[in-house]
Amino acid sequence: MAAPRAPPSSRRCLFVLLAVLAATLLLSACCAEGAAATGGKGMTRRRQLLRQRQVQHHLKRLNKAPVASIESPDGDIIDCVPIASQPAFDHPFLKDHTIQTRPAYHPEGLYDESKVASKDRQKITQMWHQNGMCQENTIPIRRTKKEDVLRASSIKRYGKKMHKSTPNPSSVEPNMLNENGHQHAIAYVEGDKYYGAKATINVWQPSIQQGNEFSLSQLWILGGSFGQDLNSIEAGWQVSPDLYGDNNTRLFTYWTSDAYQATGCYNLLCSGFIQTNNQIAMGASIFPISNYGGSQYDINILVWKDPKEGNWWLQFGNDYVLGYWPSFLFSYLADSASMIEWGGEVVNTEPDGSHTSTQMGSGHFPEEGFGKSSYFKNIQVVDSTNNLKAPRGVGSYTEQSNCYDVQNGNNGDWGTYFYYGGPGKNPNCP
Ligand SMILES: *[C@@H]1O[C@H](CO)[C@@H](O)[C@H](O)[C@H]1NC(C)=O
Repeated sequence: MAAPRAPPSSRRCLFVLLAVLAATLLLSACCAEGAAATGGKGMTRRRQLLRQRQVQHHLKRLNKAPVASIESPDGDIIDCVPIASQPAFDHPFLKDHTIQTRPAYHPEGLYDESKVASKDRQKITQMWHQNGMCQENTIPIRRTKKEDVLRASSIKRYGKKMHKSTPNPSSVEPNMLNENGHQHAIAYVEGDKYYGAKATINVWQPSIQQGNEFSLSQLWILGGSFGQDLNSIEAGWQVSPDLYGDNNTRLFTYWTSDAYQATGCYNLLCSGFIQTNNQIAMGASIFPISNYGGSQYDINILVWKDPKEGNWWLQFGNDYVLGYWPSFLFSYLADSASMIEWGGEVVNTEPDGSHTSTQMGSGHFPEEGFGKSSYFKNIQVVDSTNNLKAPRGVGSYTEQSNCYDVQNGNNGDWGTYFYYGGPGKNPNCP
């Protein structure tokens, strides 16, 4: 409230003003309840206070006390948190958990990556490495800022996907078209028991038209039917202004054991994933990014189930084993996966089947091929004998191929691969 200034000479005037002020205060105090009932100012303020307190509480839970902090050139703060203090150990089932520092078994590979990768190619790394690293026995965690939480639709939803977002290619119904605005262009296998999956994915920075949309490229390890108890483990790269406050391309993970309802989250934004690696931060920016018609940069993602302990491990590149999802987080995936998907997903907020220009992958269609279209290559699955092998019977799926498309292929160099992506809105996708 802006009070009019009293002329210094007039005491009576000042008195009257004070009286009016006091009356106003009294009135607003006594009537806060009434105002609340009608959704007035009093309630708004109280709600704001409550929300502020909830945000602080949530930040305190997410951001563990670091032994060191590194400021990344992209504005992130990376906290080096003692490995035993990470968010996973807030989980009641993990109170007495003994951290597995490494997997008992790696899957046996088909491809020798060191032979495939050319030596002089620049490796993908994370931006914050330019300003320091975390010491041993700590893990790097991207600090959640107040603004991050405030961008979420609610504090409870922060770090969670908004909707069910995994397509079920085997039961596509026409009325599922554009459901919740999630659009996919993916390759998939089903009908067997899978114990992991791998892919080499080139990295792009798709442009996002609306702040509450996102674009990502990832693999899905899926268990169960596509009902309320769907299990999913996901990893890849994403651009999500809502989650991170910018348009940077970031490494991410996701998990859920109930179809994106109560359980699971991105990265370390809830208890579940146990990180063991001190060099890579979940949700941190990666670079370099591929250039249209120029240099191409890709990342390797491998997820597999350790046959000894049953945990699902995640590896990034050839060198970084990042950590694991304990088997007990899941129902179906406690045994094995029944479906693997690889590909892109965007959220389109435009209603009624029309489209924003949010890009998937490079923003170009598969037809354009290498250097211009985005790809997944050497896609593989882990079988029941812990061997990586080429997937059999790969299908592909997209809701609207004139907006985002996918094209499978197979050759000696790239094994099983596909190009995918698109521009979203264009003359054939209005
Ligand atoms: C992200 O990109 C969009 C579209 O290019 C732009 O409008 C927006 O301002 C950017 N957002 C941020 C946080 O930089």
